[in-house]
Amino acid sequence: MALERTLSIIKPDGVKKNVIGKIIALFEEQGLTPVAIRMAHLGRAEAEGFYAVHSARPFFGELVEFMTSGPVVLMVLEGEGAIAKNREIMGATDPAQAAEGTIRRLFAESKGVNTVHGSDAPETAAAEIAYFFRGLEIHPKVGKITANPEG
Ligand code: CMP
Repeated sequence: MALERTLSIIKPDGVKKNVIGKIIALFEEQGLTPVAIRMAHLGRAEAEGFYAVHSARPFFGELVEFMTSGPVVLMVLEGEGAIAKNREIMGATDPAQAAEGTIRRLFAESKGVNTVHGSDAPETAAAEIAYFFRGLEIHPKVGKITANPEG
């Protein structure tokens, strides 16, 4: 399996429920390392641009409304097969269909209010990461912790 990066968003419902830490722990426990993290309150244009591929869908207005309703946590997750693994940890879009122990099963309310977003393929992961992060804001996982040379 290849080392990959994927974009993860903890949506406004996850932030409001105070489960940011629990969600990040689920990623870390299952081999995904956050290599960039930022909180943001998306504006309408930013959310519309991010979800542009869904602009013709009937739920687009609702999706943009929800994603701009409060702050979100934007993250780049790194790990072996990170794109598929993130989607596995998130669970199905509809929480009623999501497997036991997945983020959406644990915390999501509906198909729309579903706590997390994750890129669905290598091309979208690259585009979504670049939409929110500059290269310098991403900090690849270090192989080992080195001692403070001063101390
Ligand atoms: P996300 O992974 O962020 O990408 C597209 C989003 O559209 C998806 O998660 C859902 O939150 C949302 N979505 C998909 N289907 C529906 C639906 N039927 N009603 C409302 N929102 C939906």
